[in-house]
Amino acid sequence: MNYAAVIFDLDGVICHTDQYHYQAWKAIADELDISFNKKINNRLRGVSRMESLDIILEKQEGTMSTAKKEHYAAKKNKRYKELLKEMTTADLSSEVKSSLLELRARGMKLAIGSSSKNARFILGRIGLDGFFDAISDGNNIEHSKPDPEVFLKAALFLGMEEEACLVVEDAEAGIRAAKAANMDSAAIGDAVICGQATYKLDRISDLLEICK
Ligand code: BG6
Ligand code: MG
Repeated sequence: MNYAAVIFDLDGVICHTDQYHYQAWKAIADELDISFNKKINNRLRGVSRMESLDIILEKQEGTMSTAKKEHYAAKKNKRYKELLKEMTTADLSSEVKSSLLELRARGMKLAIGSSSKNARFILGRIGLDGFFDAISDGNNIEHSKPDPEVFLKAALFLGMEEEACLVVEDAEAGIRAAKAANMDSAAIGDAVICGQATYKLDRISDLLEICK
């Protein structure tokens, strides 16, 4: 298949923010006296901030009011953004950077398709401010992955047909979202085991074999 565009998930694909999400959610879980571990943290990949909180609250009896949920989600995000300030251009691996540059040199359009509302902030931290041809993120969607909205918007922003776009994802929710958007997908990391992606990547530079 000849692709004209690649839509990259951000967290877990372009860079790694897992540890910061974990630390920030762990502080909230501790405050609420709810057990939280790395296994639960893995379930938060690709889903929105509020849905992440709902997953954490599964361990708690009863329901929490919307106002309280908003309070804890905002508190988590404040802590998370403090932690993100530790990120620098060193958090963009040379392998990812050179792959992006080579794909662009081959004439591909490059976009971000992320559930995060902090996507632009993170891109700024790692030195990719203004690099992508389009950014579709948590600020322009109503439904997060596995809903296809974030990828459909990315294609729209690029002015591309869905079939011409390849999605790169580390979360099963993202692979399912790509499928629902009628886009091929390349799985990396944890998403590989779901077996639903068009391609499996060992590393991002494997894309250079797919997008020739
Ligand atoms: C995704 C992460 O990229 O963004 C999820 O994989 C996270 O774990 C989601 O919940 C929302 O992030 P943010 O930055 O808007 O809280
Ligand atoms: Mg991800």
